[in-house]
Amino acid sequence: MDTQLTEIAPDIYRLSTYSSDARLMWNQFLINGEEPLLFHTGLRSLFPLVSAAVARLIAIERLRWITFGHVEADECGSMNSWLAAAPHAQVAHGTMGCLVQVNDLADRPPRPLGDGEVLDLGGRRVRRIETPHVPHGWDAGLFLEETTGTLLCGDLFTAFGDSPALTQNDIVGPALKTEDAARATCLTPATAPTMRALADLQPATLGLMHGPAFTGDCAQALRDLSAAYDQRLDAEGIQLNGPRTPSTSELRK
Ligand SMILES: [Fe+2]
Ligand SMILES: [Fe+2]
Repeated sequence: MDTQLTEIAPDIYRLSTYSSDARLMWNQFLINGEEPLLFHTGLRSLFPLVSAAVARLIAIERLRWITFGHVEADECGSMNSWLAAAPHAQVAHGTMGCLVQVNDLADRPPRPLGDGEVLDLGGRRVRRIETPHVPHGWDAGLFLEETTGTLLCGDLFTAFGDSPALTQNDIVGPALKTEDAARATCLTPATAPTMRALADLQPATLGLMHGPAFTGDCAQALRDLSAAYDQRLDAEGIQLNGPRTPSTSELRK
């Protein structure tokens, strides 16, 4: 395996490692502001590869922020390796995620971020957006880089298989096929509305953790994904509970 580097937006680099055995890619993103930020640390086992790729962009000691969407091995498994390699770096995560997870897991105290809070990286600005249980994890959240409109959307649109670094091709179909096989997404009444709220941000680029970076109509892709999850929630409800009986007020209409 090797880790490939692609600049997907000005100063935003995608670091991508594909495993043909797992038929899965793991992507991290480095935002190279005055205070460089890493989104996703990658698996512990990938630290040698990913850190060597970051070192092609910046001196590792310059890394200031270590971030991820939610606590999971591929999101933050190597965070303590990064903390050891970058003495001025700090993990930044959602407030609740810090309380429940990262305060204990990280070797140095994290910087809690409120919903909507912005980290000014000097030249680039990232906003933390809480998305609890979307696609999974109580502490789940994403980052929008505001100056380029790049939404680092983690596990959303996860698709098996290899793909180019950048694409404008359909990312919804492959994601739904993978979802039907892997069932990785929490299906709740908040799933689709949360995705629609992300569409309302009108991102210009979507940085996927397990897939390409998408530069097509990002808002439409998020709306299409949300519509598919609305359908899945309805179908799951019917499968579990049978057809829903209309309420009295609905019958009166
Ligand atoms: Fe995940
Ligand atoms: Fe992931």
